[in-house]
Amino acid sequence: MSIRTYKPRRGRVTPRQAAALDLHDGLLIDMDDAGFTLEDEWGGLPVIMEIGFGTGAATVEMAQQRLDLGLLAIDVHTPGIGDLLHRVRAAGLTNVRVMEADALEVLRAMIPEGSLAGYRLYFPDPWPKARHHKRRLVTPEHATLLGTRAKPSATWDLATDWAPYAEQMLDVLDAHPMWEGGVIARPSERPITRFEQTALDQGRAITDLRYVRTAD
Ligand SMILES: C[S@@+](CC[C@H](N)C(=O)[O-])C[C@H]1O[C@@H](n2cnc3c(N)ncnc32)[C@H](O)[C@@H]1O
Repeated sequence: MSIRTYKPRRGRVTPRQAAALDLHDGLLIDMDDAGFTLEDEWGGLPVIMEIGFGTGAATVEMAQQRLDLGLLAIDVHTPGIGDLLHRVRAAGLTNVRVMEADALEVLRAMIPEGSLAGYRLYFPDPWPKARHHKRRLVTPEHATLLGTRAKPSATWDLATDWAPYAEQMLDVLDAHPMWEGGVIARPSERPITRFEQTALDQGRAITDLRYVRTAD
């Protein structure tokens, strides 16, 4: 089994989250949904995968801004899945699908090569201790996995409040043949989440990066 990029957390599920998780209206996709296709779910819209959406507040805001994009939002944390499902339904959005899964497993098992229009990776777990660095999501191996599932010119947007992780992102992606790009100014379309606000309140600088899938 590959090394997990997240720490399994229990977390209490509120009644509202539980109700959102129990509603079977097709928004929540299962890992074992053998018939899943991007085409069936989004009818030909370009599809962006968001890895680790937390509570999904930014996910919903960005989905509302871009109804011309499909959004496959994935996290492993059950209460957050409930929150996002509730927010998507409250907003009446039809372009978002949600998965409770390890996004890396989803990429390996369910996403065909050359099919995604992009990725969003906002504030991935920083794993600050040296012995945990192997758990970070941005590694050469994962950059290859994301690269193989991406269409040519697909975008990969990243943000972090952890300066040494920003350095690792630059080191890994600048050296990777499938990706080109670097640090960008904060994109106006990315809303400030509670997570980001805490980092700002604690005086940490935010780094935004954007990479584009190179032609093979
Ligand atoms: C630090 S939080 C940031 C949440 C959100 N993006 C934000 O900006 O507020 C990182 C999230 O990534 C999720 N995560 C970590 N590894 C993951 C993986 N392999 N697949 C899906 N989600 C993952 C965690 O469960 C957590 O919710």
